[in-house]
Amino acid sequence: MLPDYIQITANTAEALASYLSENHFTQLFIVVDENTEQHCLPLVVAELPSNSVVIKIASGEANKNLDTCSIIWSTLTKENADRQALLINLGGGVITDMGGFCASTYKRGIAFVNIPTTLLSQVDASIGGKLGIDFNGFKNHIGLFQIPNKVIVDPVFLKTLPDEELISGFAEVIKHNVIAKGDLYQVLKDESFEEIDWLNWIESSLDIKNNIVEADPREAGARKLLNFGHTIGHAIESHYLGSPNHLRHGEAIAIGMIAEAFLSTLKTGLSQPELHDLAEYLLKIYGWRQIDEKDFQEIVSLTLQDKKNTGKLVNCVLLEAIGRATYDVVITEAEIISALAYYNSLSR
Ligand code: GLY
Repeated sequence: MLPDYIQITANTAEALASYLSENHFTQLFIVVDENTEQHCLPLVVAELPSNSVVIKIASGEANKNLDTCSIIWSTLTKENADRQALLINLGGGVITDMGGFCASTYKRGIAFVNIPTTLLSQVDASIGGKLGIDFNGFKNHIGLFQIPNKVIVDPVFLKTLPDEELISGFAEVIKHNVIAKGDLYQVLKDESFEEIDWLNWIESSLDIKNNIVEADPREAGARKLLNFGHTIGHAIESHYLGSPNHLRHGEAIAIGMIAEAFLSTLKTGLSQPELHDLAEYLLKIYGWRQIDEKDFQEIVSLTLQDKKNTGKLVNCVLLEAIGRATYDVVITEAEIISALAYYNSLSR
């Protein structure tokens, strides 16, 4: 069961109108980027009071920084936003992470609502309260935990996305089932991506994530499970960032899940058939790409930056079986290299 603050709906306008009528706010601000201003704002604008202020920021991870926060805080200040103002974040993970961060720090915190518009933000970033920005080249380096006052999730926004973006977000849906619901993973695998029932899979994905977050809101233990595929996947994503070979987040996480599933067969008891099954499924959706051996060392170095590490040890989430994972498993440099080599060996 999802908590009240998360509402899945096929009618965002109605859900927002009802939330606004049940709560009193002195003023409304809505953060958009050039994409959500064009494709998503028209779906909610009729519900906003006429004195609402649209704060438009530039899209993309490159803008998830202090300069953009300054634009948001400056607008709130210029418009005399008080503690009873509301900030609505209409966008993907960059907007919900950064808008939530700005709201939670402005005058020590005002209310904020997330209306996530990408699959990645709908099933992952918009709930659970991790807020923040990138700093000095490190992702989500400055931030805090704060649960949003409301999250309105509407699959209608997925129609505004290019296919690659949808497929990228789908990696988190796969991850949620692989770490916690082996039976649902078997069902998911048989779904045709073209005909998938998003409402259903978003709901079950949010349920898995929410149960984990409720058990461990500040990631002291079990919440680390949500990082399956991300230790090696994040390092690969960071390594190719800004290069012609750059990968979307989900594409990198799919490689990370294969690499970490391989390590799971060595260290935590995942069976060979389960590894092959998962690798085949992920390769079918994400394809295969060679990781140049000369990049291995740099990718290993990047895993050392992972926030879940202790000291110089790389801590990883590994699978005991499909549907059951464990965290804080120390992996060595040589093991990471062997996992990358395993991924490369799946060439087709
Ligand atoms: N995206 C992982 C988490 O929210 O903990």
